[in-house]
Amino acid sequence: MGMRIVITGGAGCLGSNLIEHWLPQGHEILVIDNFVTGKRAVPPAAERLTVVEGTIADQALVNDCFERFKPTHVVHSAAAYKNPEDWAEDTATNVLGTVHVAKAALLHGTKRFINFQTALCYGRPDRIPIPEEHPTVPFTSYGISKTAGEAYVLQSGLPAVSLRLANICGPRLAIGPIPTFYKRLKAAQDCFCSDTVRDFLDMSDFVALIDGVMEDGAACGVFNGSTGEGHSIKDVFDAVARYLGMTPPQVPVVPASADDVPVVVLDPTKTERVLGWKAKASFEETINGQLRWYDAHGVTDVYSHLSTQKS
Ligand SMILES: NC(=O)c1ccc[n+]([C@@H]2O[C@H](COP(=O)([O-])OP(=O)(O)OC[C@H]3O[C@@H](n4cnc5c(N)ncnc54)[C@H](O)[C@@H]3O)[C@@H](O)[C@H]2O)c1
Repeated sequence: MGMRIVITGGAGCLGSNLIEHWLPQGHEILVIDNFVTGKRAVPPAAERLTVVEGTIADQALVNDCFERFKPTHVVHSAAAYKNPEDWAEDTATNVLGTVHVAKAALLHGTKRFINFQTALCYGRPDRIPIPEEHPTVPFTSYGISKTAGEAYVLQSGLPAVSLRLANICGPRLAIGPIPTFYKRLKAAQDCFCSDTVRDFLDMSDFVALIDGVMEDGAACGVFNGSTGEGHSIKDVFDAVARYLGMTPPQVPVVPASADDVPVVVLDPTKTERVLGWKAKASFEETINGQLRWYDAHGVTDVYSHLSTQKS
């Protein structure tokens, strides 16, 4: 049967990819977005898609949307991270906004509630790859506020899944080293690599994971969404250079900035075992797919949750 899905932050990268995946399947979707990092023009004009401009920090607006739309499913993708010094905005969106969305979902008997969580919830991890049972010890405003929001969701009694996500690559990605290197190498500008390691998950694998957790009866709780494979930012730089037909040039590798975490690789073992999902795309396929998308569509604004923009 068709789902009625509220997607908070549906004009953003992940939300908009889910819209493109679900609309053709006949589901009804309502987006709430304040267009702080998402773009008004991104959600398509479509009969079964309603876009409401506003903030989830506005409880009356959230309640009104739920009352009118009566969602069966909620995908909570809205998040504030644009200005690491704006703690008030981070808490207004990531804590209070999350609470409003969770309370409305409870009131309306939502069947599944999917929350997206940043790997920054694990803080500076004491083991790699990081399993879900690793303590949550965030130390940035984004990480702290997202971790508080997630805790509210998990203890709410909702049939909730919180996915702690690797760096997802796909259409409209405008953050991090891949768009930065692509833009700068094409413009013959100097680059540097931070001495860090991340895991990169392809959008196709992310969408397959979401489809799994949206199913009635799927397990609830916390799951990492990742490949479990670490790649250095220098690996990304070399892959972008090769894609652009260059022999990878010499590039300075600089220590991670104070608010950055040197190695983030999430352990997908529990997700694979419990949900029967496994990432399929290789690192090369993921990076090259991203770069083909930039060839076709260009790179838009580059935001970061770090105070020093990674390049
Ligand atoms: N993309 C990733 O690799 C990744 C990794 C880990 C976690 N996440 C989480 O996934 C979610 C989506 O991330 P994304 O990459 O699509 O980011 P994004 O910035 O593209 O999307 C977030 C959307 O939320 C909207 N928004 C912000 N504050 C809002 C508010 N108060 N009310 C309503 N809308 C608001 C923004 O305008 C934007 O459209 C976030 O919760 C993020 O923490 C993403």
